[in-house]
Amino acid sequence: MVRPFTEPDRSQIIALWNDVFADDPPWNAPDVIIDTKLKVQPGLFFVCVDLSVSGQREIVGTTLAGFDGVRGWMHHVATHSAHRRRGIASLMMAKAAAGLEALGCPKLNLQVRATNQAVVRFYESLAYVVEDRIRMGKRLGSNGQ
Ligand SMILES: CC(C)(COP(=O)(O)OP(=O)(O)OC[C@H]1O[C@@H](n2cnc3c(N)ncnc32)[C@H](O)[C@@H]1OP(=O)(O)O)[C@@H](O)C(=O)NCCC(=O)NCCS
Repeated sequence: MVRPFTEPDRSQIIALWNDVFADDPPWNAPDVIIDTKLKVQPGLFFVCVDLSVSGQREIVGTTLAGFDGVRGWMHHVATHSAHRRRGIASLMMAKAAAGLEALGCPKLNLQVRATNQAVVRFYESLAYVVEDRIRMGKRLGSNGQ
């Protein structure tokens, strides 16, 4: 089942992200990302819950989406390593895309690290295409120093 984040999900999401995004920089600490996302379009923070394993609620996937008024973005698309290739991320992406479309979002963007080529195949399976763009970024506030 894919549904929006609820607070009791937090500890399992932190464990999932610490595993899947182990080399993320300190400013992407899971607690920070979760707290920040909950302040902006929290209804577009999706989790996939597996109830079938032991009758317990297990968070097996996440997707964070957001609409900036011009484009929609996807972040933290992750499926627990024991649950991959079962369509979980595809389901979450569809739910997030529907949420963005409902807000009037005309196009989705996402970023993939150059070292993460395998995931390109996943996005291509959902009809995303590699575009000829140069990605640029700048950190703001205290993280910008
Ligand atoms: C990428 C990721 C989210 C995919 O999750 P998933 O739940 O396994 O994806 P799905 O089951 O919905 O995959 C749908 C299709 O995508 C393609 N696909 C998924 N993972 C793939 C891989 N590692 N290599 C090639 N194709 C892949 C396949 O076509 C697959 O369909 P199939 O299983 O019938 O062949 C998952 O591998 C993951 O969490 N990776 C680590 C985190 C990450 O890199 N996130 C993206 C950051 S940009």
